[in-house]
Amino acid sequence: MKDLLRTSDLSTDDVELLLDTAAEFAIKPFSANTALANRTVAIYMTKPSTRTRLASETAVAHLGGNSIFIRGDDLQIGRGETIADTARIISGYAAALIIRTFKQSDVDELGINSTIPVINGLTDDDHPTQLLAEWATIREVFGNDISGRKFTYVGDGNNMAHAWLTMGALMGAHVVVATPGGAYAPSQAAVDSALHIASKTNAQIEILTDPEAAAKDASVLYTDVWMSMGDPESERAAKLKALAPYAVTPQLMNLTSRDAIFMHCLPAHRGEEVAAEVIDGDRSVVWREAYHRRTTIQAILYHLVRGDLSGNTY
Ligand code: CP
Ligand code: NVA
Repeated sequence: MKDLLRTSDLSTDDVELLLDTAAEFAIKPFSANTALANRTVAIYMTKPSTRTRLASETAVAHLGGNSIFIRGDDLQIGRGETIADTARIISGYAAALIIRTFKQSDVDELGINSTIPVINGLTDDDHPTQLLAEWATIREVFGNDISGRKFTYVGDGNNMAHAWLTMGALMGAHVVVATPGGAYAPSQAAVDSALHIASKTNAQIEILTDPEAAAKDASVLYTDVWMSMGDPESERAAKLKALAPYAVTPQLMNLTSRDAIFMHCLPAHRGEEVAAEVIDGDRSVVWREAYHRRTTIQAILYHLVRGDLSGNTY
């Protein structure tokens, strides 16, 4: 496996290895501080980022490397240079490329035309590095035995919902995604991919429209922003109206299991997708998730550059 372009690129064994290494990097952040010595990682983002950028830059530093941050229109891509040519050029300078952008197909094209690992730092379709941080956090809270536990996402059927389904399938989990359906449902391709993986891992996938049924007895209640980067402002009012019943309120949280946690990839909008009492309450693990963005990206860089990951063969 050269690249991490989609969550479904990973095998279950790859996820296990990455989570074990991330757990080590959480305790001993500098235990591999020569892994990227004298090497450079390029980080190219055409959308804003707080966590992914900072986690990536600090992860590279912890591995002894240096990073170059490239903002959206800094490259000649904006003036017509092709993605393929850009990929060839960056491959000549850097040990890896982390890319955040809109179209998944652009990330795929970078992967195909690069000789270095390309890592998806979020597209409109997927957010693989985020999901490793979520599962690093879930492991810390619940341990490795997730039998009988339900992992619920409520809200927009966006990139996070897709990644939530796929990673849950890889982990053999009982995963639930509840959205208003229609334009806000997760993509059929993401659902089909998760169902395919689940058929091999014995995961259970439920796609619902009822937020209360989804929250009932869940061990994790997860949500994401309602307006994602790139969503048209003209659709805001209709979208917020459709999603209002999916807000994670104290009442929705009360339906979950006694030991349930609240998760959110951040950035959050208190009073929209989550109530302040929930995200700032004692069941929220959002700061730990954010911390694990660094440990998990560090693990991804470490293992991808060494060529340790086998990739999904399901
Ligand atoms: N969770 C996440 O990807 O955050 P940023 O958009 O700040 O990188
Ligand atoms: N769905 C959100 C996730 C942000 C981390 C977005 O794409 O903007």
